[in-house]
Amino acid sequence: EKDGYDWFMRKEIFEQPHAVADSLLGRRDAEGRLQLDEMRLADEELRDIDKIIIIACGTSFYAGMVAKYAIEHWTRTPVEVELASEFRYRDPIIDSTTLVVAISQSGETADTLQAIMHARAQRAKVLAICNTNGASIPRESDAVIYTHAGPEIGVASTKGLLTQLVACYLLALYIAQVKGTRYGDEIEDIMAQLEAMPDHIRTVLDGAEQVYELARAHVGTRSVLFLGRHAGYPVALEGALKLKELAYIHAEGFAAGELKHGPIALIEDGLPVLCVVPPRGRDHLHEKMLSGIQEVRARGARTICLAEAGDTSIEPYADHLIRLPKVPVLLQPLVACVPLQLFACELATAMGHDVDQPRNLAKSVTVE
Ligand code: M6R
Repeated sequence: EKDGYDWFMRKEIFEQPHAVADSLLGRRDAEGRLQLDEMRLADEELRDIDKIIIIACGTSFYAGMVAKYAIEHWTRTPVEVELASEFRYRDPIIDSTTLVVAISQSGETADTLQAIMHARAQRAKVLAICNTNGASIPRESDAVIYTHAGPEIGVASTKGLLTQLVACYLLALYIAQVKGTRYGDEIEDIMAQLEAMPDHIRTVLDGAEQVYELARAHVGTRSVLFLGRHAGYPVALEGALKLKELAYIHAEGFAAGELKHGPIALIEDGLPVLCVVPPRGRDHLHEKMLSGIQEVRARGARTICLAEAGDTSIEPYADHLIRLPKVPVLLQPLVACVPLQLFACELATAMGHDVDQPRNLAKSVTVE
């Protein structure tokens, strides 16, 4: 039941601290080493993997994009991320040293299932990240990492996504442990940071009212752009998808560095642009993002910036500022997605839409 919430979606957004904590539970043995129960791929098999292809659809695809950053950074194994519906039509290069990772909340998405079949026929190993015990996708896979989000009823994926991200981080760290690309204490540090995430997500949820107010002020808006970089890029895409599917508002996500290659032509006076600002301090990402924000603002955009607590450099360029807890860049999607979910849920609700059952959409898409 809805436990006093007006929508399942809202309830599920607020369940995320719990869902993330549950998805992290029991993943370490007595010595603190990572263990994944349903991994079913031997360490030798994993060590032989020289390429990973992630396949998924919709929001799960965005989880896959984040996973690419984490897996490549922590394991030095090349990762491709591909829309499941495109995968088998491009004659992908797969063999027995390819690990195909299929991400699906429902475990029944036909495009993803068909992509798995195609990969298996070419002897790839298949690992599923799934929220539904015994669904078709985990059944057809060699190994599974189950997420522990609990049933997700709202058509829009929320806790499904956050727990998929957790599973992706765990997979990345597990491969790093097996391949020896990261040392044990480093893995422990990252695990500790992951274990702090439920509290950080709670902090973001405590600020829901500010996001709701902002959302209600956007009733009547016809178009919203989302900008991000690095792991914030898939977050921008996800924010845009949520707005499309729930509020039926035209929304686009862009990698901020692409602005000058075209999208900046879209900027006009008063256009809301939601910016996911990376944490300060790595690879000039933050500075680069800041200059992108200045560019759109100089052309009349109204900027809504998600930026970490204490980042004062953003203040002159933000018409609205939503604060995020201070977390590492790779883990930032776990907190940055949350205000975007709240924004879309509230805006759609204020417009009188049914956020649990948006028009034309189904919870699991079992046709290709
Ligand atoms: O069950 P799956 O994770 O395979 O579903 C994939 C997409 O259909 C799903 O994420 C869809 O994009 C959601 N409606 C997004 O909120």
